[in-house]
Amino acid sequence: MSTTNPVSSEIPVEKLFDPQAESFIECPHAAFAATRGTNPVAHHADLDEWIVTGKAEIEQVQRDHERFTSRYNLDGSYPFSPEAQAVLDGSLFFRVALYNVDPPEHTRFRTLIGEYFSPRTLRTLEPSIRRTARRLVEGFSAAGRADLLQEFAYPLPMTVICDIIGIPPEDRDQVKAWNNEWLALQVVPMPPEQQLHCANSVVAYEQYVLGLLRDRRREPADDLLTALVNAADEENPVCEDEDAVVALRVMIAAGHETTTNLIANTMSHLLGDRQLWESVIEDRGLVAAAVEEGLRFDSSVQGAPRVATEATTVGATDLPEGARMRVMFAAAGRDPEWVEDPDTFRLDRQGPPRHLGFGYGIHFCVGASLARLESRIALETLAEMLPRLRLEDGFEPRHLPGGFVFRGLAALPVVWS
Ligand code: HEM
Repeated sequence: MSTTNPVSSEIPVEKLFDPQAESFIECPHAAFAATRGTNPVAHHADLDEWIVTGKAEIEQVQRDHERFTSRYNLDGSYPFSPEAQAVLDGSLFFRVALYNVDPPEHTRFRTLIGEYFSPRTLRTLEPSIRRTARRLVEGFSAAGRADLLQEFAYPLPMTVICDIIGIPPEDRDQVKAWNNEWLALQVVPMPPEQQLHCANSVVAYEQYVLGLLRDRRREPADDLLTALVNAADEENPVCEDEDAVVALRVMIAAGHETTTNLIANTMSHLLGDRQLWESVIEDRGLVAAAVEEGLRFDSSVQGAPRVATEATTVGATDLPEGARMRVMFAAAGRDPEWVEDPDTFRLDRQGPPRHLGFGYGIHFCVGASLARLESRIALETLAEMLPRLRLEDGFEPRHLPGGFVFRGLAALPVVWS
């Protein structure tokens, strides 16, 4: 299946990369294709940002975390109203997450967190992830139709990450609402009153997580909250409670939003070409290839910001000190320099994955193994329990605005008999 509309490279970068434009929201790959070969580090004059779409250039930036810092990744892409800014200044919104700093803090923190996402831990989690996936399908299988996004692709990773962290089940809907408001502040422009509402939600969210940390200090449990409290209470602490709040907020978002969208994006491509889905039904060994192809072809994380800490050159382009950049991992996934037939979703690609769907360098996704496991379990469970699944008649994929960061469907209506 091909989704790239050929776009003339004559179109200005500002028009190609307009995150509010329907053309970009529905098919960012057309913009990537128009710049990648001819202008892989393109200046976007309206946003004063450099959009990096060449795989070699992306790898260069990702390899050099000192010259291209991720320290400002969570600061938001659009200016805030004075009222929202005042609320956020009094919150932890601008506190640098321990993920976005340099070694040695970054290394110590990742080592602590990495334990919770290691292959050993994942082996112990797998049976309960499978149970959750089956329970979800059993919950809607009699209906003959479902929104696969809301009823399956969302609750599966959300349940798993909340269990790992230790978020009580009865609070998860509220946490999801806060999470969405925090993310929206970062990636989409909004009117001042909505900004203020979201800023107040950020404060409420932080107070809630601080409360959970206090609870664990009184009453430890076998979860990530307790590990972070212990790390904050060490003689040479890896983090403070405020760092833990910021890190947990990142992990809750990264731990479900991304995987939800990967599962839904991948299923929409598999069901969009019946032969692909039939191949998976016949040979479950193809599930891993489908997940990797989903990450390459239609990654749920499109890119990440970086800032140049000194005047420098990326590829053949000179950048000033302080240059703000958008490193588009999704563009690398379809770079014809390394992948044959890049605009087709295929299950027969050979060799280890070379896409950048989980990033590259020291900030490579901490949850990559978990995301792969959850996505594989999701596809296997659907193939086993609902092999006759198909897209609802007339389904046209519509995507939600995700700035230069996220890519996800608004809904995935499916039916089966
Ligand atoms: C399909 C699912 C996922 C995708 C596509 C994805 C993608 C990415 C990418 C591209 C990065 C690099 C960002 C950068 O370089 O600035 C990243 C980092 C990260 N991801 Fe994921 N992710 C996924 C799932 C998860 C899960 C399940 C977790 C669970 C905790 C997670 C936690 C993180 C964290 C904490 C970082 C920051 C790591 C660091 O800066 O050292 N992600 N992810």
